[in-house]
Amino acid sequence: MADLDGKKVAKDYAVDIPFANQGSFHVKGANDLDWGMKKHLSNIFNPDSGNTVMFAFDHGYFMGSTAGLERLDLLIPILLPYVDVLMATRGALRSSVAPSCGKGIALRVSSGSSMLNEDLSHELVAVDIEDAIRMNADCMAVQTFIGADGQLSSIGNLSNVINAGFRYSIPTLGVVAVGKQMERTDRFFKLATRIVAEMGAQIIKTYYCDNFEEVVAACPVPIVVAGGKKLPENEALTLAYRSMQGGARGLDMGRNIFQSNHPAEMAQCIGKIVHNGYTDKEAYELLLDLIN
Ligand code: 5RP
Repeated sequence: MADLDGKKVAKDYAVDIPFANQGSFHVKGANDLDWGMKKHLSNIFNPDSGNTVMFAFDHGYFMGSTAGLERLDLLIPILLPYVDVLMATRGALRSSVAPSCGKGIALRVSSGSSMLNEDLSHELVAVDIEDAIRMNADCMAVQTFIGADGQLSSIGNLSNVINAGFRYSIPTLGVVAVGKQMERTDRFFKLATRIVAEMGAQIIKTYYCDNFEEVVAACPVPIVVAGGKKLPENEALTLAYRSMQGGARGLDMGRNIFQSNHPAEMAQCIGKIVHNGYTDKEAYELLLDLIN
């Protein structure tokens, strides 16, 4: 039985050495997965750039109607040209998004809390694998709360979804949550992202932090970065740029798109960073051109 006695702090992440088990498939850690998994992952990560722009609007699963998401039916159509994947609940997708949208689907399958709770770490798996198959989900998103009171149940949720996902070749997106008691440091994210990857998730979503390159190097599957709270557009674009420079394979932004006064333009500029190698400054200049 492993124990914590004498645990040495890891220090050699070899951040400049590419992932050695990449093989011929463009998604990290997925080279030996089956065709179906690879097809879903290719619907998420562009085979040319290897990257993805996920638009996250699953916030309603615990926030209800939040600012910027009042009318999904009006918002989603204007963003479709600029994003690769829609991250949403089944309720939002079925009610408000055309099945002809032509986008990858990251289906939020865990839930159980609301903004009325102090502790958000107690969730359950609300969407079963059959409904994920019906919706042709390209991945199933499960919140994990490492270090929180709900750690055990959230890892249990994650594992159950991963097990079902392997049965039907649907990838799992492990969402590393940060609660009040969790520190947004590389120390925490190295721990949390690696635990989620070791559980078998094929994609990890987490937040940017200092030494992000080491978080990426220590994680054997691709990381996409959540935007977090709304920032000024230039700062959000810098966050996107630093994330990609640090080895993220995409952004999963919500509030920094749907709470922007120019959501479509913002999504377009994020895409230029993710897929076309724009710097944050080039992307911000483009944004200013688009909105003026
Ligand atoms: C909400 C989520 C969101 O998908 C994730 O946080 C990305 O959204 P944002 O960029 O607004 O943080 O997991 O629970």
